[in-house]
Amino acid sequence: MVLLEEIKLVKMKPKYARALRDIWISPGVIEYTLQKKNLTVKNTLKKLINDEAKTIVALINKIPVGCARIHFLRGRKNHIVEMVIFVDPKQQSRGIGSKLMESVLKIIKKKKIKRLELEVNVDNKKAIGLYKKFKLKKEGIKRKVSQRGNKLIDNYTLARLF
Ligand SMILES: CC(C)(COP(=O)(O)OP(=O)(O)OC[C@H]1O[C@@H](n2cnc3c(N)ncnc32)[C@H](O)[C@@H]1OP(=O)(O)O)[C@@H](O)C(=O)NCCC(=O)NCCS
Repeated sequence: MVLLEEIKLVKMKPKYARALRDIWISPGVIEYTLQKKNLTVKNTLKKLINDEAKTIVALINKIPVGCARIHFLRGRKNHIVEMVIFVDPKQQSRGIGSKLMESVLKIIKKKKIKRLELEVNVDNKKAIGLYKKFKLKKEGIKRKVSQRGNKLIDNYTLARLF
């Protein structure tokens, strides 16, 4: 059992891209995201660091075990951020997702963002538990939006206002 004290949160760096790619496409993560199995390290890096996104990485013994990416919307939606979060399946349910969420909320408050929004598969119990813990509220349901194998899964739309 890993003690939470061993977890360090840092800014995304290119050297973490390979490990995060491997987590993003692993069973226990990929089925709850819209990620493609053939995601490259280069594209992982592009998705996690760009002009519109910031990513916080959780490390244990200097090795990435998860991350949260905040995507800043533009124009007349520039008060809004969207979020992607995932944790290595071997390290889930140990508080790492919560630590990443706390860090996301700090950034949101610092940048005076007014709305955090995201979508989650209706059967993703862990993520729904995490979002509820951090006060995101259900706003609606989008039917048959996420492909998982040959199934089409419904998503809840969730948001928290600040
Ligand atoms: C969702 C995810 C990021 C949560 O990270 P985590 O490190 O497992 O989360 P934590 O251990 O901090 O748990 C936070 C909350 O999640 C819920 N949760 C965690 N493990 C759970 C489990 N096994 N069963 C039910 N709920 C669970 C609980 O509500 C928990 O709150 P608590 O600390 O008060 O018990 C992680 O499970 C994950 O990467 N899942 C796959 C990818 C994914 O679904 N990403 C989100 C897509 S929208």
